[in-house]
Amino acid sequence: MGYISEKAKKDIISRYSEERYEHIQNVIELAVKLAEKYNADVEKAYTAALLHDIAKDMEVDEMVALLESADIFIDEEYHNKNILHGPCAAVIAYENYDIDDEEILYAIYYHTFGRAGMGLMEKIIFISDAAEKGRTYKNVGKIRKAMNTDLNMAIEMSLSGTISHVLSKGEVLFPATAAALEYFKEQRIKR
Ligand SMILES: [Fe+2]
Ligand SMILES: [Fe+2]
Repeated sequence: MGYISEKAKKDIISRYSEERYEHIQNVIELAVKLAEKYNADVEKAYTAALLHDIAKDMEVDEMVALLESADIFIDEEYHNKNILHGPCAAVIAYENYDIDDEEILYAIYYHTFGRAGMGLMEKIIFISDAAEKGRTYKNVGKIRKAMNTDLNMAIEMSLSGTISHVLSKGEVLFPATAAALEYFKEQRIKR
């Protein structure tokens, strides 16, 4: 079942720069592959991947205004593009492209910071964004290897890397990211 029309697809693609669209295509490719592997809805994975970075080029002020218009309030200390572009993209998906499927919206919303208790579609988009073939950071090979057998482990590795990176650069860490890492650690210990 399609979640998005051909016309909307064209419109979304036209909003991305060439460079950004290459990333989007890579995320789509991996998200579809993982959706097939883990028996998730391929069409939802495609749609979430297509839209996940649609807000990335907005200004922070615009992002905050868009979120507040949708009754989403995020503390001022977290008003930065890295954190806000996920929630903003979810609002745009809902308002401009009539996406009302919760799994798709959650996957888009949380792709920037994760959360404790992430669902399968959220995990697929999160890891596809982190490990698509254009990514070249240090541990990406290990994450790619893990994602084919253990999605939770791959996300735990990715979150842990993100947190170290954020802290080493002196950037603010969104609390949901720390909570997500704790959650995945607990899940692993329980298994
Ligand atoms: Fe993103
Ligand atoms: Fe992305």
